[in-house]
Amino acid sequence: MRWIYLNGELVQQEEAALSVLDRGLLYGYGLFETMRSYGGRVFRPEAHYRRLCEGAARLAMDLPLSLSDLADAVHAVLERNEMTDAYLRLTLTAGALPAGGASSAHGDATVVLFAGTLSEYPPALYRRGMAAVTSAVRRNETSPLSRVKSLNYLDNLLAREDARRRDAEEAILLNTRGFVAEGSASNVFLVREERLITPSIESGALAGITRQAVLELASSVGLEAVQSEMESSAFWDAAEAFLTNSVMEVMPLTRLDGRPIGSGRPGPATKELRRLYQEMVVRETSAVRTV
Ligand SMILES: Cc1ncc(COP(=O)(O)O)c(C=O)c1O
Repeated sequence: MRWIYLNGELVQQEEAALSVLDRGLLYGYGLFETMRSYGGRVFRPEAHYRRLCEGAARLAMDLPLSLSDLADAVHAVLERNEMTDAYLRLTLTAGALPAGGASSAHGDATVVLFAGTLSEYPPALYRRGMAAVTSAVRRNETSPLSRVKSLNYLDNLLAREDARRRDAEEAILLNTRGFVAEGSASNVFLVREERLITPSIESGALAGITRQAVLELASSVGLEAVQSEMESSAFWDAAEAFLTNSVMEVMPLTRLDGRPIGSGRPGPATKELRRLYQEMVVRETSAVRTV
């Protein structure tokens, strides 16, 4: 039996009900955060919360949740489901349409949090590295949604589904100008000549929490962190490539469009950054704090 946090209460999944007039359903009007917990604690909850606040401001939504409410919700969900190491999905919608049907943002927001198991990325995938394909779906870097983790996620899902049909695990999205933006659910990094390069936020990349942590670690492996426009051909000059997100952490990217990147195997900088990231997570999540 799974327990879900819904608007301040824990309810059984079968009992958790939303209005059919919820604007998250009707318009995709809402935001989400995907977090990972380690020993019952989320890595950098304040960064997830900040991104949620910024998204809410951009979408003119009320945010009926403080950082400590988020901490309490995470704690309650993990405890009730007897989980410690989990995937956590927070969804915030603009709530149900009021009588009369105005579609304005203001109303009682809906907040849902649930936990899931971490089974999506098996160890063998880290040893082999992911294969990706360049997607025909473009990231519109001029859209206000490009930097928001909004419920409008269908471009990402369609790109990922297309990748799966083409025997790849991830899709790389270019922006409207043909530069690399990000993966369908990840940020992209290349290692080339002492530099660790990732597409700039202006390119249409989401400001990933893992992306930020990896940028902080670059100098520890002797690399200069660079955020810039990235040509789609840059993969072919790179020694290594990898992808990041909160759940999979640092994942080697070893093939693109059927061709090997670098040696076609996970590279030394990628492996070292993965190790350092895991050390950072253990250090930060075991320090005394509220989540
Ligand atoms: C489109 C997209 N880009 C990047 C990321 C990585 O973000 P984070 O490191 O905060 O999980 C995600 C996360 O799921 C994503 O969906």
